[in-house]
Amino acid sequence: MPRSAVAICLPSQEFLEVNAELAEAGYEAIMVLDAGELETLLESRPDVGLAILDGENDFDSTIEMYSLLHEGERNIPSLMVVSSTAMDRLSLAGRARVNGEFVTRPYSAASLRWRVEAMLIRAETMLIRSEAVLDGARSDILEGEVGVSPSPANRGQIVVVFNPKGGVGKTTIAVNTAAMLQLRKRQRVLLIDCDTVTGHVVSSLGMDSIPTVVDVWEADRGTGKSHSLADIASRHASGVEVLTMSQSPLHTEVLEPKRVAQAVAAARELYDWVIVDMHPDYGPLNQGIFALADQIIVPVTPDVPTIRAAVQFREVAVGLEIRERLALVVNRSNSGISVGDVERVMGFGAMARVRSAGMLFVQAANNGHAAVEEYPKAKVVGDIENLADRLIAARDGEFRPAASPVPRPSRFFVRPVRNLLGRFTAQAAGRSG
Ligand SMILES: Nc1ncnc2c1ncn2[C@@H]1O[C@H](COP(=O)(O)OP(=O)(O)OP(=O)(O)O)[C@@H](O)[C@H]1O
Ligand SMILES: [Mg+2]
Repeated sequence: MPRSAVAICLPSQEFLEVNAELAEAGYEAIMVLDAGELETLLESRPDVGLAILDGENDFDSTIEMYSLLHEGERNIPSLMVVSSTAMDRLSLAGRARVNGEFVTRPYSAASLRWRVEAMLIRAETMLIRSEAVLDGARSDILEGEVGVSPSPANRGQIVVVFNPKGGVGKTTIAVNTAAMLQLRKRQRVLLIDCDTVTGHVVSSLGMDSIPTVVDVWEADRGTGKSHSLADIASRHASGVEVLTMSQSPLHTEVLEPKRVAQAVAAARELYDWVIVDMHPDYGPLNQGIFALADQIIVPVTPDVPTIRAAVQFREVAVGLEIRERLALVVNRSNSGISVGDVERVMGFGAMARVRSAGMLFVQAANNGHAAVEEYPKAKVVGDIENLADRLIAARDGEFRPAASPVPRPSRFFVRPVRNLLGRFTAQAAGRSG
């Protein structure tokens, strides 16, 4: 059963605003006042897929509700609304990854909606996946060249490549990293051109005539069918499966942001990596995909306008609460401003650097290939390999770019935050045990 209802314990004005946004997205919001009401709701409504709790008002009651969400077989995710000061303390205490479960006040109801949608889509996909695996769907891909079936426990990573500035190397990095992961790292890769305006993934791989998502979904209309991204993708000579949303920026109404996000989330079940090249904008389509991304590569060339655009994106990312997923990649790293200066301005270390390669990428693209196919020994291909290795290490929790120097948190912050997290864990364990 799709879990499309959201239990909300927030002050009534906030509830009304959030409710309006969620209703627009097709989710039912149900207000609860206390743990008792939540308990009754959870017993009568198995479709509650998420809860939004207030971490500031009555903390004990919030903890009780949190425990109810995880009681017995139940494992319902929650978003906790806290003050920005509490969130700063969590980040400084090295707990920034808990961002996924926290929202800071003041927040906009629209941004909360995207978080909720992303979390519900993730949860729904888990259900879709178990059905798909049972159906043996797309076993050709599952068993393909690599000869391994993905374990249901392993889901692919969604890597978005984005910078609000054009011409900084987004497509070059997306295409070449995808081919590197597929060819040298023996991973299954889906490369998606989500740039419906100036997308050039397919042309750089010599695949201009492949069917687009718009073509196929338009043809699906009224037939009761809905092809998945894996069904629509075409295989490139490198083995990467390639997909483009549309050939033209016109008539893309069928690319409804929620449907696209759901389709991208579902693709994780069949591929190890889903690499998404994006158009430089902050529209709803992109926001839906940002929310799903495990890692967001921000290519930055070492020049002032590009760094300024990347700093702007970092600020937007804080607002969207995806800041901790950003991975800086300094492109054309041996020209212009030093990598160290780029890192200092951005406030965090680079995941990788890619040197300037003259006409090498252009020449490979002219032949419809990635650089690793055409020039396997080139130094810049070594840079791309290093980037691919870092992505794998980050997925496996073995790599995290160093933050640029920030003041060390004082004990004054750290202790209350540890206490808070400790109480959470202990109470939840006590309840379910
Ligand atoms: N490290 C590099 N060395 C040499 N050329 C590069 C490098 N990175 C990118 N280029 C070249 O720079 C140009 C712009 O790169 P690319 O198309 O990847 O940027 P983009 O961010 O995708 O642009 P858009 O926003 O227009 O989609 C391309 O011709 C590409 O081949
Ligand atoms: Mg591009």
